[in-house]
Amino acid sequence: MNVLLAGGAGYIGSHTAVELLNSGYNVIIADNYSNSDKKAIDRIEKITDKKVISYTADIIDKIVVSEIFKNNQIDVVIHFAGLKAVGESVKKPLIYYRNNIDTTITLLECMAEYGCKNIVFSSSATVYGEENDIPYVETMKKGTCSNPYGWTKSMMEQILSDASVADSELSVILLRYFNPIGAHESGLIGEDPKGIPNNLMPYISQVAVGRRDHLTIFGNDYPTKDGTCRRDYIHITDLAKGHVKAVEYAAKHKGPEIFNLGTGTPYSVLEIVNAFEKANNIKIKYEFDERRSGDLPEFWANSDKAQRVLDWTATRTLEDMCKDTWNWQKNNPNGYE
Ligand code: NAD
Ligand code: UD1
Repeated sequence: MNVLLAGGAGYIGSHTAVELLNSGYNVIIADNYSNSDKKAIDRIEKITDKKVISYTADIIDKIVVSEIFKNNQIDVVIHFAGLKAVGESVKKPLIYYRNNIDTTITLLECMAEYGCKNIVFSSSATVYGEENDIPYVETMKKGTCSNPYGWTKSMMEQILSDASVADSELSVILLRYFNPIGAHESGLIGEDPKGIPNNLMPYISQVAVGRRDHLTIFGNDYPTKDGTCRRDYIHITDLAKGHVKAVEYAAKHKGPEIFNLGTGTPYSVLEIVNAFEKANNIKIKYEFDERRSGDLPEFWANSDKAQRVLDWTATRTLEDMCKDTWNWQKNNPNGYE
């Protein structure tokens, strides 16, 4: 079976490519490398000892994407191709709406033209918004997002669901990720944010490797046991394996389906810092500062549905997440550069 990974050179796409190749799928990656590096493709091939077909392509561009569908019999699309920096999305909302919405429409149009009936989409826990109780369950109504990035995810879910209503043959799998961290156990691929990291774990690992002086912890007065925010961190390999299960399921399913991909166990920012220090025997310097605007005190997943329907569950521990992050960062202090 041939799987097209739109945005597949990025953090989640590259790890998913490895798991798909190891499970016997053929992988086609199309990426414009706006937030990734072509070296990721070589690394995927090195880890798996298998070939990837890759295209430098802007997924917004229908002529370019049509060519990919014309030249390859695509059975399933996974749509990773999105801009994801929350703060940047507040400053440049139109760029976020243009990129994230248009890539989705182009993919759906090309799928319709070439008879591809299965799409798996990278959504986010952020669509639950501020109103829902925790843990989040797929049956909850979506909530109010605190930034344009979140709204693009919510809107893309709507567009994909509407498309599946109009075409009863279409299988649409919406994967709501919680907080993916860690790296492949080989240390050959991992998270390589451009510029100053927005997310917690890449910031910690860049402090550990000496690229940043200290971590700033945003807020220590939240109503949690140590005052710092709690999140559901999930190992990137567990998340990638969830995509393999979703691809299998998409191929035999019709209509829209939502799955949370998380562990169900939240950790606070301080617990993450302590776990990283303990797992890797490295001190992480940190300072407390004001809360970051838009952050919720805590949320985590109920992932029972993914376990029941996809036969998927996260198995890797927080220690694994910390060790694998450091293995990637210390072997690649400047990422793919
Ligand atoms: P990433 O930035 O590493 O990967 C996204 C990839 O898409 C990059 O390789 C980028 O170059 C590519 N891309 C972006 N716009 C494109 C376009 N128009 N045409 C072609 N390629 C394009 O991010 P990631 O962490 O791997 O996230 C993948 C997806 O999952 C994104 O849609 C993101 O919003 C979503 N997501 C990520 C997280 C997370 O914590 N990492 C959480 C929830 C959802
Ligand atoms: C953020 C986004 C979310 C997106 C996800 C993955 C917000 C409000 N949410 O989730 O939409 O899907 O990233 O891209 O931005 N922290 C620090 N110091 C840092 C970095 C983070 O203290 O330098 C704290 C944050 O305040 C938060 C926790 O660490 O409490 C996790 O932050 P982060 O990794 O950015 O993930 P989320 O905020 O959960």
